Amino acid sequence: MKIKWLGHSCFIIEGNDKTIIDPYITGNPVCPESVESIDVDIIAVTHAHGDHFGDTIKIGKERRAKLVAIYEIVEYASKHGIEGEAINMGGGVRIGNTEIIMVPAFHSSGFTSADFKFCGAAPAGLIIKSGKTVYHAGDTSLFSDMKLIGELYKPDVALLPIGGRYTMDARRAAMAAEWINAKITIPMHYNTWDVIKQDANEFKKMAEERGANVVILNPGEEIEI
Ligand code: NI
Ligand code: MN
Repeated sequence: MKIKWLGHSCFIIEGNDKTIIDPYITGNPVCPESVESIDVDIIAVTHAHGDHFGDTIKIGKERRAKLVAIYEIVEYASKHGIEGEAINMGGGVRIGNTEIIMVPAFHSSGFTSADFKFCGAAPAGLIIKSGKTVYHAGDTSLFSDMKLIGELYKPDVALLPIGGRYTMDARRAAMAAEWINAKITIPMHYNTWDVIKQDANEFKKMAEERGANVVILNPGEEIEI
């Protein structure tokens, strides 16, 4: 499996199929790629905020990629002509040879697009099983059921927000990394803007003191596991 970070919470997971998670490309100040270069089978979205829903409509339309998200987001996107599979907490769906399961996250979630109408979809984390297993935590605070997520899904890779302000910070994320106990932990949702500035090396130090194995990527960089 290849895991490529496009900055913020946007990753391309290339396992049995190619999945983009939280496709925030247009307007993402640290994303090195353009939306035209993105070619994926599946778009998985953790929540409706603009820095996560991002280019879902554009990629869904132009690449005919299938959307997987919570029911309300899929319904919203379907009004824009996007084909999707709705899931919800604790459930999941198989598309091709990839299984996507939805798990809780503690945050908020509402659309901020031009045609804003209130949409109270809950925020989520996602488990992507596509050869290996990846846990994308979405935007979240630390919560103790991360231990359960680790126990249930035994992720090979955990993608955790460390930026603070809107999510847990590096110190809390280091505890999360310990609880989830993935083979590799990759930090995200930091240094996109000044308000979520964090030293990823500081996170690495704190998480590795707790037994985690942290890989820091730069936007545009990928690892193969
Ligand atoms: Ni958010
Ligand atoms: Mn966010």
